[in-house]
Parts: sequence; C-alpha cells; structure tokens
Amino acid sequence: MKTIVYYYSHKGSNKYLAQKIAHDLSCDIEEIKPLLNSHILMLMGINFGNKELHTNIKAYERVVLCGPIWMGKLIVPLKNFLKKYCNKINKLVFVTSCGSPFNKKDEKFGHNLVFKQVKDMLNEKCIHCEAFPIGLVLPPELKDAPDAFMKAHLNDFNFNGEIVEIYEAFIKKIQP
Ligand SMILES: Cc1cc2nc3c(=O)[nH]c(=O)nc-3n(C[C@H](O)[C@H](O)[C@H](O)COP(=O)(O)O)c2cc1C
Repeated sequence: MKTIVYYYSHKGSNKYLAQKIAHDLSCDIEEIKPLLNSHILMLMGINFGNKELHTNIKAYERVVLCGPIWMGKLIVPLKNFLKKYCNKINKLVFVTSCGSPFNKKDEKFGHNLVFKQVKDMLNEKCIHCEAFPIGLVLPPELKDAPDAFMKAHLNDFNFNGEIVEIYEAFIKKIQP
C-alpha cells in the first residue's frame, strides 16, 4: 500500500517516531510546517495555517499522521492538515508520542480524547490510532515524577524495552 508519513514535532520525539515509521515501512515522509511556528501562539489557538505540502497527498493510498498532544487537544498544525486534506485522504493512521500514559488515556489530557477528535473528522477513513507515551522511556525512578515526561525525548538511546514491543506490534499491524 503506497504510504506517506506526515509529521509535526516541536521537541523532536514525534520527528524521531515519524522517521522510524517511514524507515520501517520504506515509505515517503514530509514534515508539516506551520506558516508561523510559534509554540506559544499555537497553544493559544492562534492559527496562521500551514505551508503548502511538497508531496501530492492524493497519490498515496494511506497517510500516517504523527504529532504531539498539547492540553488534551489535537494541535493546530495537525488540525489544519486534517481540515485541508480530509477529502484527499483515503486511509489515515494517527500516531502520537505524547505525555499521557495508558492508564490516563481517558482523562482530560489523555490521548483518547484526541483520537476521538481525529476519528470524528475522518470517520471510517481513520483506520488506526496509536499512542507512544513518553513515560515508557523514563527510568523507573522518574516514571511518577510530575512533569518528568516534559523533559524526555525519544532517541536511539532510550528507545528500548516496552516501547519497542509496542512499536513492533504497531508496525506489524499496519504493515501492508
Ligand atoms: C505545553 C504542552 C502541553 C502538553 N499537553 C499534553 C497533553 O495534554 N496530553 C499529553 O498526552 N501530552 C501532553 N504534552 C506532552 C507532549 O505531547 C509530549 O512531550 C510529546 O512527546 C512532545 O512531542 P515533540 O517532541 O514531537 O514535540 C504536552 C507538552 C507540552 C509542551
């Protein structure tokens, strides 16, 4: 299945994840670039839209969209992307490296709420959502520390153990 990974990342974890997925699926990848890449303004919901894509999204049978979650919401660059291209997307897989752990996924800042937002926008075109909570790569002594997840970033040194098991199962599930 011809696939492309689109991603937005502020601190690098979702870039790392997106690049890994594109590598393992041997597919194309493109970064989503907001016209004004201001974290603060985007957090406030101020929205200038995204830059034009370089790739032709219609040429792909499946889109993997990857990006963080802020304040329990689908972030502005990803929302812009989905609004603009929902009619051109055939199948969507949504992936996030986020802060919310699995046991808090249904809470106010949990990733399930964002999955719901994506599914509401794409309906049956959204075929899978997957979360990679950053806590999975924290050392045991930091797992419960408040805000420790804010300082952790996915990289080759910490991408091991449980997160690899979840990642490999995910790739197996979406492998064409
Ligand atoms: C301002 C801010 C708000 C955040 N809010 C949430 C949240 O509501 N839920 C969540 O799961 N993660 C939240 N996070 C954590 C990020 O989703 C997480 O750190 C993510 O891996 C960052 O991705 P990036 O490195 O690609 O930018 C927040 C991070 C920041 C900086």
